[in-house]
Formats: sequence, structure tokens, C-alpha cells
Amino acid sequence: MIFKQVPVGSFQNFSYLIGDESTKKAALVDPAWEVDRLLQLCSELGLAVSLVINTHSHSDHVGGNEVVSQRTGAKVVAHAASPVHKDISVTDGDRISVGNLSVQVIHTPGHCPDHICLLFDNKLLTGDTLFVGECGRTDLPGGNSGDMYDSLNKLLELDDKIEVYPGHDYGHNKSSTIRYERQNNYTLKKRTREQFIQFMKEP
Ligand SMILES: [Fe+2]
Repeated sequence: MIFKQVPVGSFQNFSYLIGDESTKKAALVDPAWEVDRLLQLCSELGLAVSLVINTHSHSDHVGGNEVVSQRTGAKVVAHAASPVHKDISVTDGDRISVGNLSVQVIHTPGHCPDHICLLFDNKLLTGDTLFVGECGRTDLPGGNSGDMYDSLNKLLELDDKIEVYPGHDYGHNKSSTIRYERQNNYTLKKRTREQFIQFMKEP
């Protein structure tokens, strides 16, 4: 498998490239900035972009969907609740094929209702649900702290060794692990759902 984390744009976003070496097919996750650079990278690696996958519908994650589709013919994959134009709707537990690779969809509402995390090959793309040392905001339209609590707990059930790759470079490292986040992320300290909802209201 070919896997690249690409820092892009003015809001410390990460786009991701997931490529299957055997079929030379690739998915671009959250293309919004520097699309030329992302497509250039794919072509340098000899990969054809067959899918765009959005972790969620905020513009800093989806702004490049159309350009990538037009230039590569890639189909757009997003959660069924996402308002973006999509060719393939997914929901919790679905699997997305990238060539011979299989990417599992985990629905994680809270930051927004259509948020999904993507699990493959011991790697978890967490979008704006979980950052290194932080969790995503719940005060934007469609945000819900109770849902975020449930979603974070869903992620914490995953194996300790799974690597965490967030949608923004907000931490002191560009990636971490479920174990690291469980032990060090102050937003994941043991709280009841009510306590977490209160905690998210604090400045
Ligand atoms: Fe977002």
C-alpha cells in the first residue's frame, strides 16, 4: 500500500493519499487545497485517482472534490447525510474498495452529522473528530457534544496500536496512536456523557 499524509492550505489541513500498488488505483481523502500538487504526487507515484473520499462536508475538506473529479473521473464518496455532491453514499460499517484495498467506514457524528473516520491497514483517518491531543469542535452548525462523546468512545474501543491520522495539524506530532490519545488527550479523560457535554461548553 502507498500512503501519504500531505499538509495543505492555510488552515493546517491534511489531505491523504491511499494507493493500491497492485492496481495502481488511489483515493484522495479531503482534497480541498493545492489540488495540482496532490494530482502531481499521484502521477509521480504512477497512481490513477479513482475515488475522492470526504471525512465530512466542511469546505476546507471538500473544496477540491469537483476539480479532482473533472480531471481524473474520480467518484466522490461521502456519508449519506453529507450535503456535498456525491456519487457513492456510505454509512457506518460500509467498506470502500480502493483497488484491492478495503477501507472501513466508521460513522462519527459530533463535529458535524455526516462525519466519518476511515480505517485500513492499522491506520485511522480521524478527520475533525480526533486530533493529536485534541478533539474536534462541536459548536459549529450541526455539531453535537453528546454525539461527539459517543463517537470518541467508539474510536477508543479500537486497538491501542492503531495509528491516528487527523484532518488538521493541530498537535505537537502529525500523527499518533489510539494508545497515545487514550493516555494523553485531555478531551478523552474519563467523563460521563453529561460531564463531557459540560466540558465542551467551557471556553
Ligand atoms: Fe471541520
